[in-house]
Amino acid sequence: MHLDTSVPAAKLRASLAEFQPWTALIEFSNGVKTSDCETHDAVFTEHTLYKISRTQDYIPFVDIKDGRALDIGCNAGYNSIYLGKTFGFNMVGVDLDPRLIGAAQYLSKLAGVEAEFYVGHAESFVRKETFDVVLHFGTLYHLYNPLRSLQLSFLSLKPNGYLALETQCYDDPADENLCYFIHGLNNDATNYFALSTHVVVKSLELLGFVSIQECVRHPTSLSDRPNMYRVLLVARKPADAVDPSRNRNWPRWAEIDMPAMGTTTRKGRIAAGRRS
Ligand SMILES: C[S@@+](CC[C@H](N)C(=O)[O-])C[C@H]1O[C@@H](n2cnc3c(N)ncnc32)[C@H](O)[C@@H]1O
Repeated sequence: MHLDTSVPAAKLRASLAEFQPWTALIEFSNGVKTSDCETHDAVFTEHTLYKISRTQDYIPFVDIKDGRALDIGCNAGYNSIYLGKTFGFNMVGVDLDPRLIGAAQYLSKLAGVEAEFYVGHAESFVRKETFDVVLHFGTLYHLYNPLRSLQLSFLSLKPNGYLALETQCYDDPADENLCYFIHGLNNDATNYFALSTHVVVKSLELLGFVSIQECVRHPTSLSDRPNMYRVLLVARKPADAVDPSRNRNWPRWAEIDMPAMGTTTRKGRIAAGRRS
């Protein structure tokens, strides 16, 4: 990602250092790069806009006038800044990490993009306003209640809105229902579930999504586990779905009462997980 700036190089480098370690390459017109700072080498990418650029083949951003998008797990805000700069989208980003939200706020201001970034949890964040697009990139497998987050994404969309979901999947050729518990994998305590693509698609259907398309699939070498893939899906909220923002009694996000998931029943007790 390239950003134009008139900030002197030394000053910019000092500002970027406040938000290190960086996980994505951003290059600035004065020659500074995020890789000049400390980086998170295990996950650092030079293909910062790869996911959003592939999503463009499936979501007609250019045709969505006055578009609004929610960026779940927004990291340093690069996808939001890109949609704001390229398509004039009005962006809201949310991430659990205050350092990253600081980075996103700094970069969006530098880029001259109107965007709001909040510290929040992908399993509880919801706004009164609904969105044309929800980006849910690289975050689902970091959640211990992944389906709750997808349910909130559905709730956050306008009728006809698009969900772009990119995540780690485990696809066993012998059984499409098998999923893989990856807690702690690669020494990352925030890794939880590599769901199978089939289970993700079925869950999206249970939640009410339609027109679910698999757009991109790449094998990954996650700790040499076989059958691991990065998968990008695009799904839509049906045109005739009720827009929750029209409900005068729409609860504030902290008060939201989650509706039951389809016909799913749960037997037995499941102990609450502890996040490290
Ligand atoms: C692998 S990065 C993906 C960043 C970006 N969306 C992308 O795909 O390039 C995962 C991001 O999700 C954030 N994250 C992890 N758990 C979260 C949660 N429970 N709620 C919100 N954000 C979370 C992390 O801080 C991190 O920025």
